[in-house]
Amino acid sequence: MKITFYGHASLGIEVNEIHILVDPFITANEKASHIDINTIKADYILLTHAHQDHILDVETIANRTGAVIVSNYEIVTHYQKKGFEGHPMNHGGSWDFKFGNVKYVNAIHTSSFPDGSYGGQPGGFVIEGEHKNIYIAGDTAITMDMKLIPLQIKLDLAILPIGDNFTMGIEDAILASDFVQCDKILGYHFDTFGYIEINHEEAKRKFFDKNKDLMLLDIGESIEL
Ligand code: NI
Ligand code: MN
Repeated sequence: MKITFYGHASLGIEVNEIHILVDPFITANEKASHIDINTIKADYILLTHAHQDHILDVETIANRTGAVIVSNYEIVTHYQKKGFEGHPMNHGGSWDFKFGNVKYVNAIHTSSFPDGSYGGQPGGFVIEGEHKNIYIAGDTAITMDMKLIPLQIKLDLAILPIGDNFTMGIEDAILASDFVQCDKILGYHFDTFGYIEINHEEAKRKFFDKNKDLMLLDIGESIEL
């Protein structure tokens, strides 16, 4: 499994030559100006919630790639009405896709579309693919529900928001990594806006002090699991 960070909460995941794009917000992210969305491959686009900073580039990329949009019922219906392919899910549900199993799990946040219309309830994803299991928390507060995840699955990576203000900050993300029983963490949802700027070295040190590994990728950088 290869994971590429496209900035903010945008991720590319490659499993068995299938390309999954998560929460594409790239063209309005000044820090991601070197990423050309026309070169991003996508067979599936997974959306955690409907906020602009998670869906901005969905239509452009789905138009070009024909990607199947996977999210909550309300978000998928919104895109199906516009003619896009979609696979609706809801909290607690899982589905075997070609690349592996996806479960849509709870998040504590909000989920309106940019025009204010209802975007369902926000979520995160647990993905099992190619013998690697990852948790993408989405925008969320820390929640006791995270403790349910390791009852059923052993995670290889937890992708957690760490920027604070709109989501968990660093201290809560450390606790969240305890809840999901995963000491390998990829941080996201930081630095994009003034509200969520973090000190990278301090963040890494705080995780290190708890015997955890926080990875912060450059935009465009990939890791192999
Ligand atoms: Ni949000
Ligand atoms: Mn967000």
